[in-house]
Amino acid sequence: MSRVWNFSAGPAALPESVLRRAAEEMLDWQGKGLSVMEMSHRSPEYTTIFEKTRNDFRKLLNVPQSHEVLFMQGGAVGMNAIVPMNLLQGFEQAAFVNTGAWSKKTTKEFSKYGIARVVLDNANALADVAAACYVPDCASLLDRVNGQQMAYLHYCDNETISGVEFNGQIEALAGQFDCPVVADMSSNILSKTLDVTKYGLIYGGAQKNVGPAGVTIVIVDKALLDRALPICPSAFTFDTVAENGSMYNTPPTYSIYIAGLVFEWLLEQGGVSWAQAQAQQKASLLYGTIDTSSLYNCPVRVEDRSRMNVPFTLADESLNGKFLSLAAERGLVQLKGHKSVGGMRASIYNAMPLEGVKVLVEFMREFEKTEA
Ligand SMILES: Cc1ncc(COP(=O)(O)O)c(C=O)c1O
Repeated sequence: MSRVWNFSAGPAALPESVLRRAAEEMLDWQGKGLSVMEMSHRSPEYTTIFEKTRNDFRKLLNVPQSHEVLFMQGGAVGMNAIVPMNLLQGFEQAAFVNTGAWSKKTTKEFSKYGIARVVLDNANALADVAAACYVPDCASLLDRVNGQQMAYLHYCDNETISGVEFNGQIEALAGQFDCPVVADMSSNILSKTLDVTKYGLIYGGAQKNVGPAGVTIVIVDKALLDRALPICPSAFTFDTVAENGSMYNTPPTYSIYIAGLVFEWLLEQGGVSWAQAQAQQKASLLYGTIDTSSLYNCPVRVEDRSRMNVPFTLADESLNGKFLSLAAERGLVQLKGHKSVGGMRASIYNAMPLEGVKVLVEFMREFEKTEA
């Protein structure tokens, strides 16, 4: 069977060459007679894999020496608890920007550990996920956060469900906050260049642009490693994990190995600036098709549209089922929108080639012509 064009929001498509290489190495990694899955995480073979993976990741995002890169577990949802437990020592509250379902979830979980102050939200983010379709004006953020004894300011750089993405608004202010900035970049990490020095903490689950589910990437400023609450489990304490080179306990070895192959692939393509240009091209093609049609509509404000997750609706909702089944016949799968928003969502992460998006827009145009 030929491979489909997989528009899943996550776990998402991986580069085909990565999957082929993993298949080749499945039974016998580089002549050692065993699978990576069977290696001790402390073996010299795995140490080589792990260190290259971490170095390649640092290279891709130009991570400065001031920041640690940790490979953890628990996913981004786990981080909603792990982050407060690591950063709240000496503080009672933190500031939150709510722009959709994921940031809202983070804020809610924080309330178990401290006082969550929502300093900015898009009018409906708290009440109505489907209507939370823009990035609010960030100009007032400095006034709302500074001088308030906040442990940190949290935001989600790309809201995977509603397709709302920041475009550097908070990074541009980051040096002026009197607390560190914490960003959930689960669904857009490695898709644009970043100034990591501006962030206290960046985290993300792997299953979009990094690799298979199971590993959680954390980039943390070393200056923040002394802020953990005593109740923080050792396996989730950044300082402990950093001191032990992400091997305090057994890490998700195979997921990290695949992530390493993805990083190698991305470096070969031209790195994060290549991914950024490619993402722009794919997103423009898809949004352009939506905006020039009378059948499709994207509810997100133009300047805040995600380059990774493209939600769209059909003017006649009764056509949704037919759209999905005809798309599947063309090998275009996982296009159904999140249940809280409805409609469609095409996730076009780094591993989705431009060709896949071309096939999708061709299908969309044809569907509009014949069915609408
Ligand atoms: C922006 C964002 N944050 C958090 C999560 C949750 O990640 P996980 O399921 O790995 O905990 C997701 C997953 O889709 C996401 O897209």
